[in-house]
Amino acid sequence: KKLFIVAGARPNFMKIAPILRELRRGAYPFAAKLVHTGQHYDKAMSDVFFEELEIPRPDYHLEVGSGSHAEQTARIMTRFEAICLRDRPDLVLVVGDVNSTLACSIVAKKLHIGVAHVEAGLRSGDRAMPEEINRLVTDAISDWFFVTEQSGLEHLLAEGQPRDRIHFVGHVMIDNLFHQVEKLAALPPAALGTTPLKQRFPEYGVITLHRPSNVDDPQVFSGIMAALAEVSQGLPLIFPVHPRTRGNLDKFGIAIPDSVVLTEPLAYMDFLNLFKDARLVLTDSGGLQEETTALGVPCLTLRENTERPVTVDEGTNTVVGVDPARIVAEATAILAGRGKQGCRPQFWDGRASGRILEALAVAV
Ligand code: UD1
Repeated sequence: KKLFIVAGARPNFMKIAPILRELRRGAYPFAAKLVHTGQHYDKAMSDVFFEELEIPRPDYHLEVGSGSHAEQTARIMTRFEAICLRDRPDLVLVVGDVNSTLACSIVAKKLHIGVAHVEAGLRSGDRAMPEEINRLVTDAISDWFFVTEQSGLEHLLAEGQPRDRIHFVGHVMIDNLFHQVEKLAALPPAALGTTPLKQRFPEYGVITLHRPSNVDDPQVFSGIMAALAEVSQGLPLIFPVHPRTRGNLDKFGIAIPDSVVLTEPLAYMDFLNLFKDARLVLTDSGGLQEETTALGVPCLTLRENTERPVTVDEGTNTVVGVDPARIVAEATAILAGRGKQGCRPQFWDGRASGRILEALAVAV
């Protein structure tokens, strides 16, 4: 069977990498082609991940680039439709919740091509979040659902999806994380660009921020940065800056103290090398809430909600919102040793990709 695997943005790359790696074992009845939509295109946001995560060169590169949501989604749809018509896949596999996920699932369904959604069923309940719309629409039309946690299963059932199409398989991103942790252990520290930072700061925290709701509003963004500046008085914070965030830092003229160290966006291994040994991670990312839980690193999520509640119920994550006083109080509690312990969620064992491909081999 012909399988198209779609990736477009940075958080997709770590999810397709282990699926492609598992496919390379040759144990499944699929001829896979990789489609990169080009939603992310900078070297630091795309190419370096292909190299480090051993992702082969895409069979199709749609080169859609940035734009408004409608422009970007429309460009992906038009270009993806053309290759589906030409090459006629039997199945399209999409991962996560970015615009590429949404666009390609709609195109496939309208051409009567089956859609498998990996990381299905997550819900933040916040429809102001573009990813929530992408999740809802993709799940409404997908044929097979692969979920990472119990909440995903429950949401899909409540939305009327048939039980036999939903597979609780664990998390492909954690498959990749464990693979990379092993590779990292075999590398000399000098091979990693973030080693000098770790030498300079024996103890540190890590920040990532890129959600429009946090970085597009000058007041919210300044409030968060003021809180982080305060936290950094007790613990230096290293902050790899996403392009959207960089643009707004400059535009709003937000002051950054020396104890908050800005870097360019980091490659996967460099970032892993940093956050795995951090005292604390402060983030609005979805994936990082899960990667910190898998490695037992304390995480504060600077959002009002999470679509990944298992990281809070079982893992090391606390959802703290964006109130500066609360951010400081929660960070102080962790530094005083009052952080959560947490355990690794069910099926986050490095074998999710195999479970997905086995289920699809039977289903398709
Ligand atoms: C996208 C995803 C988000 C994901 C995030 C991770 C959607 C709706 N959003 O958000 O879920 O968490 O990726 O990074 O799909 N830009 C560059 N170089 C690039 C890519 C983007 O400079 O390679 C700049 C452009 O100015 C662009 C802006 O960043 O306008 C935002 O990029 P975009 O892909 O629209 O959304 P993200 O905020 O990255």
